[in-house]
Amino acid sequence: MKNLLGIKELSKNDIELILNTASSFKDVLKRDIKKVPALRGKTAVNLFFEPSTRTRTSFEIAEKRLSLDVLNLPVTTSSVVKGESLIDTALNVQALGADFVVIRHSSSGVPHMLAQHLKASVINAGDGTDEHPTQALLDAFTIREKIGRLNDLKIAIVGDILHSRVAKSNIYLLTKFGTEIRLIGPPTLVPPELESLGAKVFHNTESGLRDVDVVMMLRIQMERQGKGFFPSTLEYFRYWGLTTERLSLVNKDAIVMHPGPMNRGVEIASEIADGPRSVILEQVTNGIAVRMAVMYLLAGVRE
Ligand code: CP
Repeated sequence: MKNLLGIKELSKNDIELILNTASSFKDVLKRDIKKVPALRGKTAVNLFFEPSTRTRTSFEIAEKRLSLDVLNLPVTTSSVVKGESLIDTALNVQALGADFVVIRHSSSGVPHMLAQHLKASVINAGDGTDEHPTQALLDAFTIREKIGRLNDLKIAIVGDILHSRVAKSNIYLLTKFGTEIRLIGPPTLVPPELESLGAKVFHNTESGLRDVDVVMMLRIQMERQGKGFFPSTLEYFRYWGLTTERLSLVNKDAIVMHPGPMNRGVEIASEIADGPRSVILEQVTNGIAVRMAVMYLLAGVRE
């Protein structure tokens, strides 16, 4: 594959190769000199049409650690605001020498569309409510690092599954390893038809959390929701928020994850986010090694 568009089209072997390669890069990142010349002379352009803290900076650091030349196109001051189409923008970026185009966009399917027009490798950094493949890969890397395996686990994903590309990519990835996935949240945000993805749906938080090995909390995506999915954030926290009391139901060695950005006091209590079971900041750190692995492997295919 020249591109990374989603987890859906990856095999279990592909995923294991990425995670094993990321482990080697994580060792590199522990050295005094964290940079390798692997992709020297190549160019990466980061096109973010939606806000991002973790993904954009993590891609940029990964690119610099691989010795790529990096350009972050400032979308709001680019000719996009004069009406230039997305494809024309991407073709121009390619004409300037881009070997990689990392794209985040609010519309599902945009990376797939670009991949049809570009010779450069396209990497999906989150498209609408569809997929966020590198987030699922870094989540899998973190679970494997903390628990030692991806199979034979019970994993709860809690919150706004309906609008979450992170949840979709994680479900696609974890079902390939035979993991039991529980989707927890209100019926408006976790409709029963999501069971068709190979997960169990729970509308009662306590029942869903019992004996799980991993709790993955999700942000309420207000920007993608109309009104009326739940009465208020106060009420949401009361029924679906992760509290100390609820966390007492999970396995004794269970870990707590969140892709960020977090809404403290809405989906997760601060004492849990900052507590001993939280691996939230380790997820962020692992994103660098995982994104290095993705770009390194895609470059190998291009060569
Ligand atoms: N997890 C994630 O995608 O975070 P950002 O929106 O900050 O990139």
